[in-house]
Amino acid sequence: MSNRYVIILAAGKGTRMKSRLYKVLHPVAGRAMVDHVLTQVEKIEPDLIETVIGNGADKVRDLLGDRTNYALQEEQLGTANAVMQAEKDLGNKEGITLIVNGDTPLFTADTFEKLLDYHEKEEAAVTILTAHADNPFGYGRIVRDNGGNVEKIVEQKDASRSEQEIQEINTGVLCFDNKLLFENLHKVNNDNAQGEYYLPDVISLLKEQGKKVSAFEMADLSESLGVNDRVALSQAEKIMQRRINEAHMRDGVTIVDPDNTYIDIDVEIGNDTVIEPNVKIFGKTTIGSECVIGSGSRISDSEIQDNVEVISSTIESAIMHKGSNVGPNSHLRPKAEIGRDVHIGNFCEVKNAKIGDRTKVGHLTYVGDATLGTDINVGCGVVFVNYDGVKKWHSNIGDHSFIGSNSNIIAPVEMADHSFIAAGSTITNDIPKHAMAIARERQTNKEDFWERLPLSKSEDWK
Ligand code: UD1
Ligand code: CA
Repeated sequence: MSNRYVIILAAGKGTRMKSRLYKVLHPVAGRAMVDHVLTQVEKIEPDLIETVIGNGADKVRDLLGDRTNYALQEEQLGTANAVMQAEKDLGNKEGITLIVNGDTPLFTADTFEKLLDYHEKEEAAVTILTAHADNPFGYGRIVRDNGGNVEKIVEQKDASRSEQEIQEINTGVLCFDNKLLFENLHKVNNDNAQGEYYLPDVISLLKEQGKKVSAFEMADLSESLGVNDRVALSQAEKIMQRRINEAHMRDGVTIVDPDNTYIDIDVEIGNDTVIEPNVKIFGKTTIGSECVIGSGSRISDSEIQDNVEVISSTIESAIMHKGSNVGPNSHLRPKAEIGRDVHIGNFCEVKNAKIGDRTKVGHLTYVGDATLGTDINVGCGVVFVNYDGVKKWHSNIGDHSFIGSNSNIIAPVEMADHSFIAAGSTITNDIPKHAMAIARERQTNKEDFWERLPLSKSEDWK
C-alpha cells in the first residue's frame, strides 16, 4: 500500500454563513465541523495530516492542537492555492493524497477508505468522489464526455445552462497521486467567474497530459453535504442527529421520538434508558442504564448514573448518583452533586452543593454553597442565603437533620447531626447536636380585633 496523506482545507471565511464565527468552527451535534472531518480522517491512520488554515487560524489551531500539521494560507485565493500551502511538508513525497474540505462534516472514514482503495485499484492520477444531488445548486458539476469519462469539473458560477442541469456533483473529496498534484497546482490559473484558483482545474490539466482521471460515485448522498450557509447547517445537524440517535437505539436506548431528540456526538448513554421527546443532551455528558430522561430536559456536561430519573429539568455540569431523581422543573447548576437515592422535587435550584445519600429536597428550595449530609429532610421553600452582596458563604448540614419549611439559613451556619430547624426560622447561628433552633416572632392573637373595624358595624357584614 502506498503512503497516504490527507489535506483538510479550512482557511476560508465562510462569507455565506454571515457569522462572526469562522465557518469550519460552527458546531454540528456539539463538535466543530472541521473536528468532525479530522476525527474521521484520523481513523484511516494516514502518514501525515495537514490542515490549511487562514481565517481564524489561531482558533482552529487551539481546537485541533497537535492532532494535525498546519499550513498557513495568508490570502484566500481559492482551493488550489490552499492546497499549494501544503507543498513545504508534502511537495516531493511519493504516495496518495486525499483532500477534504473542512465544511463537509458528514463524511465517514469508511467512505474515505473505499475511495482510496478504488483509486489504488484503478491506478488513477486522480479520483473524484462524486454524488448524485437532486438539487445540485452551489456544487461543482461533473462534466463527462460521450463515452462517460470525466472531462472536467465546472463550478456553479462558471457553468453554462446545460452544465447547470448536471446532477452529478463534486463532493470536494479528491484523491491524487501526490507528485502529480503538486506538479500541476502551479499551472492552475484564476481565469474564471470568481477570480479564484480552483483545485478541480487540476483534473483538466491531468486529462490533457493523458493521465487517468477516475470517479467514484458514493452510495449515501447524505454524507456529501457541504455547509456553506445556515440552511445547510441545519440539514447537516438533522442528518448527524439521526445517525447519533440510531446508534444509541441500536445500543439499547429507547428514544421515543428521534426526530425531536438532540444528543451531542460525545454523549454516552447506557442501555434500557428511556429518552422522552424534546430532550437535549449536550457536551461530554454520560448517562447510565435504566434512567428516564423526561420531556423538556436539558442536560449538559454532566454525569447521570444508573436508575436516575430527570423530569423536565435543566442540569449543567452536575453529578447525579445512582437512584436519585429530580424534577419537574428544577435546575441543577455547576458543581451540584446529588447523592444516591436523593429526591430533588419541583422548582428547586442546587448550585455548588453536595447533597448526601437519601436526603430529600422536595419543593421550592434553593441550595447554594452548602454540604448536606445523609437522610436529611429539607422542607418546602427553604433558602440557603449564601451571598452577602460581596462574598459567597458556605453552610454544613449534619446527617439526619430536619429543616422546617420556609426557613432561611444565613451562611455560614454549621448544623450538627440530628438537629432541627423549626419552620419559618431565620437561622444565623450554629445549631448543636440534638437541638432544635427556632428563630421567629412568637404568635400573639389580638382578641376581638373584629370589633375595631368600621366594617363590623355594617349590616351586610354582621
Ligand atoms: C467546493 C468545490 C466544489 C465542490 C464543493 C463541495 C472548488 C473550487 N469548488 O466549492 O467543486 O462541489 O466544494 O462542497 O474547489 N478554502 C480554503 N482556502 C481558500 C478557499 C477555500 O482553505 O482560498 C476552504 C474553505 O475553508 C472550505 C473549502 O476550502 O472548507 C471549500 O471552499 P468553499 O468556498 O466552501 O468551496 P465551495 O464553493 O463549497
Ligand atoms: Ca463549501
